[in-house]
Amino acid sequence: MKKQILKELYESKGEYVSGEKLSQKLGISRTAVWKNIACLKEEGHTIESVRKRGYCLLSSTLGLSQTDLQLSINTKEIGKKIIYFDEIDSTNNFAKKIVNKEEHGTIVIANSQTAGRGRRGRNWLSPQNEGLWMSIILKPKIPSTEASKVTQIAAVAICQATRELCKCEALIKWPNDIVINGKKTCGILTEMAGELGEVNYIIVGIGINVNTKRFNEELGGVATSLLIETEKEIGRRDLFIMVIEKFEKHYQNFVVENSLEGIISGLRKYSALLGKKIVVLRKNEKIYAIAKDITVDGGLMIKMDDNKEMLLNSGDVSIRGENNYI
Ligand code: BTN
Repeated sequence: MKKQILKELYESKGEYVSGEKLSQKLGISRTAVWKNIACLKEEGHTIESVRKRGYCLLSSTLGLSQTDLQLSINTKEIGKKIIYFDEIDSTNNFAKKIVNKEEHGTIVIANSQTAGRGRRGRNWLSPQNEGLWMSIILKPKIPSTEASKVTQIAAVAICQATRELCKCEALIKWPNDIVINGKKTCGILTEMAGELGEVNYIIVGIGINVNTKRFNEELGGVATSLLIETEKEIGRRDLFIMVIEKFEKHYQNFVVENSLEGIISGLRKYSALLGKKIVVLRKNEKIYAIAKDITVDGGLMIKMDDNKEMLLNSGDVSIRGENNYI
């Protein structure tokens, strides 16, 4: 019922709708209307109530507000609750603060981040209106050792959504990045807490450069955006919906069916690394190798210069192409 009321208000495009009209149209009492409105306000939708006029949903800009996203999404668990900010330090930081009181599947999304975080303590540039900066809160009943698979699920979902929506050759640079034409368009920062080997929560932080027009000199050589690569403005809401719907499908297969099949085949099919000469940066060493295969567990098998094979299990490695980013 809540969603139906929200839809009615949304479709009234900033006009007031009386409680009586809503109650008649939806076949519920005016008290029920009032209670549902109170709930929606508590969830963060900006609804004004004025005596004798009714209710009005304050119009949102950019199609990325909580109301816009909540009305468009059709998932069961992931994104059932969306918390939107115009500006925040970091969606991952905020998700961590609220993780104990919020349900599994809650998404924190922001139009800009002032202190976006990347892997290995790096900053993540997150200007307003240019990207999707979001964090998904997950509470799966899986061992901590399996948590890195969620990153790979996100990588496959983002890669598939980007390919489908933007008609571009997005690839996965194992394990955390999405690249187009050798430059990074998306990074994933997964943070986890657990006890006695069991996951307590996982926060999957996703940053996608969507409509960035240009990067500074320092980033220009390694970073790109969907706009730069496709020469088209991409609707961030459409991309958000597609990423989350695909993520939920793959995530359910993993936690309910215990199947990673689709993910492994996606990681292989869209790999930016397989068959290529790479340099693995691990702690203080550089390993020169060829990327051979993605294993059934999602590890990367490499063959080193001395012909010995080695299995990398995500964790703390960084990979480069022999002479370029990838
Ligand atoms: C990387 O280094 O590649 C990971 C980048 C992850 C950036 C995203 S943006 C949304 C979320 N909030 C953060 O502070 N970081 C992640």
